[in-house]
Amino acid sequence: MQKLSELDVTNKTVILRSDFNVPIKDGQVTDSSKLLASLPTINYLLEKNCLVIILSHLGRVKTAEDMPHNSLKPVAQALANIMRRPVKFVSHCYGEEVKKIVKECHNGEIVVLENTRWLDYPNKLESKNNAKLAQFWASLGDIYVNDAFASCHRAHASTAGIAKYLPHAIGLLVEKEITNLNDLIQNPPHPFTVFMGGAKVDDKLPIIASLLPKCDYLLVGGGIANSFLRAMNQDIGGSLATEDPGILAKLKSFLTTYPEKIILPEDFIKDGDIIYDLGLNTINKYQQYIAKSAIIFVNGTVGKFEEEKFQTGTINFFTSLAKYGKRVIIGGGDTVAAVKKFGFGDSFSFLSTGGGATLEYIANGKLEALEWME
Ligand code: 3PG
Repeated sequence: MQKLSELDVTNKTVILRSDFNVPIKDGQVTDSSKLLASLPTINYLLEKNCLVIILSHLGRVKTAEDMPHNSLKPVAQALANIMRRPVKFVSHCYGEEVKKIVKECHNGEIVVLENTRWLDYPNKLESKNNAKLAQFWASLGDIYVNDAFASCHRAHASTAGIAKYLPHAIGLLVEKEITNLNDLIQNPPHPFTVFMGGAKVDDKLPIIASLLPKCDYLLVGGGIANSFLRAMNQDIGGSLATEDPGILAKLKSFLTTYPEKIILPEDFIKDGDIIYDLGLNTINKYQQYIAKSAIIFVNGTVGKFEEEKFQTGTINFFTSLAKYGKRVIIGGGDTVAAVKKFGFGDSFSFLSTGGGATLEYIANGKLEALEWME
């Protein structure tokens, strides 16, 4: 896989796949983190006098009505505001008109094409990695750069197929993400601690299975903790937890195989018999593991932080991580959002921009789209 610095991009037209899948409310981008994380590559390309044509998806497009609701227009405007320079927005991403507009652009310009997933309606051309679509996007430039780390678990036309038709490289964000995440999956320093929280255990099972042999401690919170407790036949009342017998059996086998590694909560904040947050004794216990760890990977939160009365555990946990964690890597879209919501955005070593991509990379050590890059 070639890095951007290994490719001669000077004066070239570069098709840059970024992940601009950002939250938008009332026509305004409400979290610009992914845009800010994309700037190093965009600036690098501008310094090399490239014409930068940006492709990105936004949301999911299944019906014609989904298209206007998932337009990149406000995102292009937000990028222009951040960069304090013009960003040309093209209101489609396929066809002769797009080709014509791009041809008229000059080196040193930034162009954002409309949401690549508009081509998902009605035939899922983008998501099914349609070769003709990939060829069209490739025909717009000389070089392809994939900097959309958060989308790299998807082999779509804009993240994967296009690499077949142009000289290509990964962007600076993808490089940075992989470097940081590799520290977790290839020879991590020890003690290596993992925290897994959040509502559902089902989709996190592969990552737990992959990390347990490598880590020294697994701390748990949220529905994942509840599910472990249920697997031990503890009474958790109506708390959120898996009921799948296969998953419960798997959790039980983890507890039998790694009894010293899996650290379970011991006190809770409840409403009736329902667990919504972890208590102070548990956070204090987790703090001891945080303090002795060389590296910590955090995915998920300890409680239902969306409700004020159940935020204390999450805030105390982040405070412990910020105060005692030596190297803390935060992964997963919702986790990063929670970290920022409570003012810990600058407190940790690395906030990954990926959700599913981060977890998949940690679980499998590879990402589908990157497999298309030579
Ligand atoms: C993300 O936000 O995790 C990425 O942009 C991927 O989005 P997707 O799950 O809609 O492919």
